[in-house]
Amino acid sequence: MTKLTAAITAIGGYVPEYILTNKELEQMVNTSDEWIQERTGITERRILKGDRASSDMAVEALKDLFAKTQTRPEDIELIICATVSPDYVHPATASIIADKIGAKNAWGFDLSAACSGFLFALNTGSKFIESGAHKKVLVIGVDKMSCRIDYEDRNTCILFGDGAGAVLLEPNKEGYGILDSELKTDGSGRQFLLQKAGGSHYHTSIDTVMNKEHFVYQEGKTVFKFAVKGMADITDMVMKRNGLTGGSIAFLVPHQANKRIIDATAERAGLPPEKVMLNIQKYGNTTCATIPLCLWDYEKQLKKGDNLMFAAFGGGFSWGAIYVKWAYNSQ
Ligand code: UT7
Repeated sequence: MTKLTAAITAIGGYVPEYILTNKELEQMVNTSDEWIQERTGITERRILKGDRASSDMAVEALKDLFAKTQTRPEDIELIICATVSPDYVHPATASIIADKIGAKNAWGFDLSAACSGFLFALNTGSKFIESGAHKKVLVIGVDKMSCRIDYEDRNTCILFGDGAGAVLLEPNKEGYGILDSELKTDGSGRQFLLQKAGGSHYHTSIDTVMNKEHFVYQEGKTVFKFAVKGMADITDMVMKRNGLTGGSIAFLVPHQANKRIIDATAERAGLPPEKVMLNIQKYGNTTCATIPLCLWDYEKQLKKGDNLMFAAFGGGFSWGAIYVKWAYNSQ
């Protein structure tokens, strides 16, 4: 029997219009364009202005996706939305997105795995395709990080941006799509990157608001150390398991948290810079949206049969790598 795999058959993306530059951040906190570029690789990031939420960015990304495929919203059976900035604590942003796009026949849920959220969601979505349960699954990575950031904290405000990316998964019988994955969680790292208040552990109060405990807190140096090792090790493991080398991979598609982490992963994988997707310079770290936004930016360069290695590391800790054989030539 031919094995059923889950292929990515369309991509959509969206970034807000407003550009927050390093120069503007120089006016807000004690930092410099030079420091930010040198330590992170970021030049600018996008910020969602006005009364708009994560679901609104996801809807824009999906409009872009549907314009590129014959699939209609009512054909979608499942929507998985990876995010750390849902519209509400509940209900799930996936159900709001389904309503806004008219996906009347879909069920859906949100998935929380910090910066590894898109990889975890992609792996989850692929199982519904491989099992034969569904034929059309949307996997979305979206974050409005600007609502989680203290713009007086130079340790974090320079890093993050807003954006959304989405892929359509469909069954494939020719060996294209998601071919292997390795995903990891280690909750003992939770204190190094988190939003301290607002959950059931430490619920919202006047004090938590006054103490700014609803913003992203990160011990950057510690996370950096774990991220460099975690992302490089897991990428290496999935490559070796599938007989892949730097020569046989078309692109590394890394989570965009810090260019130095990306460079270390690429070097370990034996990949030259031209084989590494990079857009951190213009979007910063959009958390769950970084990987689909890379695919969105590089879609025209991808060819059917290309071997892609997705890799991420994030809060939790959570990390992983996914091997994808690209399924189509873009128009
Ligand atoms: O996506 C989820 C996973 N997250 C990550 O992977 C992020 C991992 N961490 C990082 O990317 C880096 O640790 C950062 C970019 C956050 C920080 O870079 P770093 O090279 O680790 O800097 P540092 O925290 O060790 O700080 C070095 C110096 C400190 O000054 P002193 O103590 O040496 O005098 C900081 O106070 O740089 C200072 N500093 C800044 N200076 C100018 C920290 N932030 C800034 C800033 N502008 N924005």
